[in-house]
Amino acid sequence: MKYVPIDYATVKSIYEKSGLSSIGQASIREVKKLIGQIEEATGEEFVKMEMGIPGLPAMQTGVDAQIEALQHGVAALYPDIQGIPELKNETSRFIKLFLNVDVAPESCIPTVGSMMAGMAIFMTVNRMYPDREGTLFIDPCFPVQKQQCKILGHTYESFDVYNYRGDKLREKIESYLKTGKITSILYSNPNNPAWFCFTEDELKIIGELADKYDVIVIEDLAYFGMDFRKDYSKPGVPPYQPTVAKYTKNFILFISSSKIFSYAGERIGSMVISEKVWNTRAPGLKRYFSSDILGNALVFGSIYALSSGTSHSAQYALAAMMKAVNDGEVNYRDQVIIYGEKAKVMKKIFTDNGFKIVYDKDLDEPIADGFYFTVSYPGMTSDELLEELLYYGVSAISLSITGSEHTEGLRACTSLIRPDQFPVLEERLKRFHEDHK
Ligand SMILES: Cc1ncc(COP(=O)(O)O)c(C=O)c1O
Repeated sequence: MKYVPIDYATVKSIYEKSGLSSIGQASIREVKKLIGQIEEATGEEFVKMEMGIPGLPAMQTGVDAQIEALQHGVAALYPDIQGIPELKNETSRFIKLFLNVDVAPESCIPTVGSMMAGMAIFMTVNRMYPDREGTLFIDPCFPVQKQQCKILGHTYESFDVYNYRGDKLREKIESYLKTGKITSILYSNPNNPAWFCFTEDELKIIGELADKYDVIVIEDLAYFGMDFRKDYSKPGVPPYQPTVAKYTKNFILFISSSKIFSYAGERIGSMVISEKVWNTRAPGLKRYFSSDILGNALVFGSIYALSSGTSHSAQYALAAMMKAVNDGEVNYRDQVIIYGEKAKVMKKIFTDNGFKIVYDKDLDEPIADGFYFTVSYPGMTSDELLEELLYYGVSAISLSITGSEHTEGLRACTSLIRPDQFPVLEERLKRFHEDHK
């Protein structure tokens, strides 16, 4: 039996009993459950890097506003499906002040997190045209969004963008759009899991192609402003968070509150729909909705059917948090930059111990330090590495569930690790490296 920091036999037995056919194919929540069981059985704390939970307290402005709204009795009332005016106005201001893009408050719709935004958008956008089939995912991506398409019975396409950065992106995306089967393109920026950020030139390519082939770009800004190489956090002052909305009118943006405001628990976000997309008439929608106008079908069809709107009090919370950053009273970046600081230290611990950063560049510039980073260990597949690290008390998720073509890589999340765990991570990875050199 080998000596490893976490009892080998216990880990082996829990893993075997878990029923997982392969740890590499386990979902984020399955990995979380497995780690919880191992911790309970061994009494050893893991260095947990599998799940993207905010590691910070929720923004106090939101908590205060939500309590106040509850005390005023909003819990008893159904909120309007299209959202409370305060939130719609602040979202529209937020988009102007931090992206320099104009959108009307009417087309800023609160959602039960960006998760629900995805479901509602797939349900609607993928049904606009009977002869089109689904979304093109620019991989690697947040796996549950593909799961949403699968659940809805929609087909989708995807490709790993690693080898198609810069000008090569045009030809690659166009090869899918030419088929005439694609309704929409989805990516996250900064990217979950790889933390690369598309350049302005790349966003321009995506925008131009969206116009040429009349497809809708769904830009998922779950990690808004967290490319810490730049400061996008001053309201109304450049530089602005890069966005495809500068290059096309065919856009839908997802603004999650989970990470920038650490408000994941209340499941509240916003989707922002361009005027052009909102007013698009698509006869195919009539098969499922009473209106053939996309905005109406989305709100009074999909969102009504899914949840009849979004938690009333949480809308007041998000409105207050957005107002605070819009008015310059609170700087969201100051509150979350700790993720970048932790990533810097963690990446060094990994690379000092034989690991490599998988997605390491935005063209010729090193990627930013932020919420996630990706690592591999030479000669080990993702599955082997993930399983082996369990015995060293370190958890992550495999890149293979994210659509990455890298068969040797893991995604590590910086949020939950505490600075006092850095020496533990270092010691465990040193040991791992000694055992595997
Ligand atoms: C890229 C991406 N999109 C969407 C979400 C979900 O956001 P929300 O918590 O607002 O549902 C996440 C959460 O981790 C994410 O990483």
